[in-house]
Amino acid sequence: MSRTDVPPTVVAGPAKDLSAAASRTGSTAAALDSYEGLPWFDGAMHDDASLSAATAHGPLEEAEVVHPGVATGRLRDEGEIARGGMGSIHRLYDLELRRRVALKVIDPGLATDPEMRQRFVDEARITGALAHPNIVPVHDLAFDERAGRAAYTMKLVDGRTLTELIAMQASQRDLERILQCLASVCDALAFAHSRGIVHRDLKPDNIMVGEFGEVYVMDWGCALATGERTLVDGEPEPEGTVAGTVRYMAPEQARGEISRIDARTDVFSIGAILYKALTGQAPYMGPSEQALDAAARCEFRSIDESGGVAVKPPPMLTAIVKQAMARDPADRYQSAAELAEELRAFLRGGNWFPLHVFQAGRTIVREGDRADAAYLITEGRCEVRKRDPANRARSIALRILKPGDVFGETAIFADAPRSASVVALDDVKAVVVDRASLEQLVANTYLGRFVKALADRFLELEARVAPPADAPKRPAS
Ligand SMILES: Nc1ncnc2c1ncn2[C@@H]1O[C@H](COP(=O)(O)OP(=O)(O)O)[C@@H](O)[C@H]1O
Ligand SMILES: [Mg+2]
Repeated sequence: MSRTDVPPTVVAGPAKDLSAAASRTGSTAAALDSYEGLPWFDGAMHDDASLSAATAHGPLEEAEVVHPGVATGRLRDEGEIARGGMGSIHRLYDLELRRRVALKVIDPGLATDPEMRQRFVDEARITGALAHPNIVPVHDLAFDERAGRAAYTMKLVDGRTLTELIAMQASQRDLERILQCLASVCDALAFAHSRGIVHRDLKPDNIMVGEFGEVYVMDWGCALATGERTLVDGEPEPEGTVAGTVRYMAPEQARGEISRIDARTDVFSIGAILYKALTGQAPYMGPSEQALDAAARCEFRSIDESGGVAVKPPPMLTAIVKQAMARDPADRYQSAAELAEELRAFLRGGNWFPLHVFQAGRTIVREGDRADAAYLITEGRCEVRKRDPANRARSIALRILKPGDVFGETAIFADAPRSASVVALDDVKAVVVDRASLEQLVANTYLGRFVKALADRFLELEARVAPPADAPKRPAS
C-alpha cells in the first residue's frame, strides 16, 4: 500500500470549493484523489483502512533522525510500525528505562509546510495536556523549527485499533466489548471537552485497545481548541474549513461551520463509529465529494435495514445511534458523559432483543397457547381479545395497546397458558423478548419473586371474573 492510497483525514478550505482548497494543502489533493480508487463496498476490513497496516519500514535514516533521544543513542529505533495521514509511527527501545515507546514523526512531505508542522506540534501539546486514563500519554516533544522537523514520543500501545476489532467481530460478546470501549472513549472525550478541546477526527483507526482492554483515544491532530487558545500556536481556522474524516463527520463539521463545532460534534462521530460496528459500514461511503454532500445533509442509510455484523442490531442500540447522530446538535446527547451513561445502561440492561414486524390482522399471541415470548410495542396498535365465556365462538375486545405498552409477560411469569389473544390492528413493530431471557432476568432475584407473585395474582383474579376458556391447545403463534 503506498503512502497516498488512503489518507482519510481531509483538511480543506471552504466546503464549497473543495478541489480548489485541495490544491492549497499538499495532503488534501491526495486525500480527495485517493477516495476514487477505494474498494468502498467490500465489507468491514477495508473501508476505514488507514495506513496502519502498512508493511514495516526500516529504521529511520540519518536525515530523518528527529528525536534527540535517537541521536544520543538512548532511544534505539526498531522501525516503523504504522502510518497515518499525518506521519509515521516508529517503535523505539529506551535503553535507560528498558521499555519500548512509540515515536510519531511528521510526514517529511508535510513537514515542509509550516502550517502542517504547527498543527503537528499543537497535536503533541494537546495530547500531552490531556492526562487521562483513556488518552494516550505523551512523553515529550522534539521540535526543531529551523530544520523543519517535529516528532513526539508516547506510550507504545500494544494492541489493536478499533478498526481491527470491528472487523473481527463474531459474536454478541465481541460487540459488547466494542460498546464498553466506546463508553471509555466517551469518558476521554468528556474530559477533553471540559478542557475546551474537541477531537474532530473520531474514527475506528484513531482508537486503540490494549491487550488488557485498555482504551486509548489517539491522534488529536485535528483537535479544535474552542476556548482559550493558550495551548496551541496555530491560527484558528476560518469559517468554511472542513477538517476531519468524511465517513464519520457531523453535518455542521461537513458544512465547515467551525463556530458551531462543540462536544456534540464528537458525540455524532461516536454514534457514527457505533453505526459502523453494528452495520459493518461507515455512514458515509463512496467518492468523497458525494460522501461530503451526504454528510452535510446528514443523510445515511437507516440501521433498521441492516442485518448487522455480529448480531442483528438491537432496537435499543439503534435508538442510541439515532440520537447520537441527530442532524440538529440540540437533538443529540448533549454531552459525551450522557452518551457513556446510555451505553452502560444498555450493557447493564442486556436489551439485545430483536425487532419484529407483524402485519395488520395478524394474531401475535393466541389465547390458550403456551407462552414463548413477551412483546414491547414500538410502532402501531394491537387489540387484546378474550373468548366470551357465554358464547365461545365470540370474542370480546378488552383493550387497545399502543407503542410503549407490553404484553405476553404474565403467562411467562405465572407459567400459565395465554389468557388472551393479541391481534395487530396496524402493521406493528415490537421488540420480542424470548422466554428464556425473560426468565433469566427474574431468576433468583427478589424483584423476580415479586413480579411472579403479581402475575399469579392477576391470573387468579381474572379467573374469578371470567373462567378460562377450555379450548384445545394450539401450537404457539
Ligand atoms: N502510541 C502508539 N502505539 C501503537 N500504535 C500507534 C500509536 N500511535 C499510533 N499508532 C498506530 O499508528 C496509526 C496512525 O497513527 P495516528 O496518530 O492516527 O496518525 P495520523 O495522524 O497520521 O493518522 C494508528 O492508527 C495506530 O495504528
Ligand atoms: Mg489517525
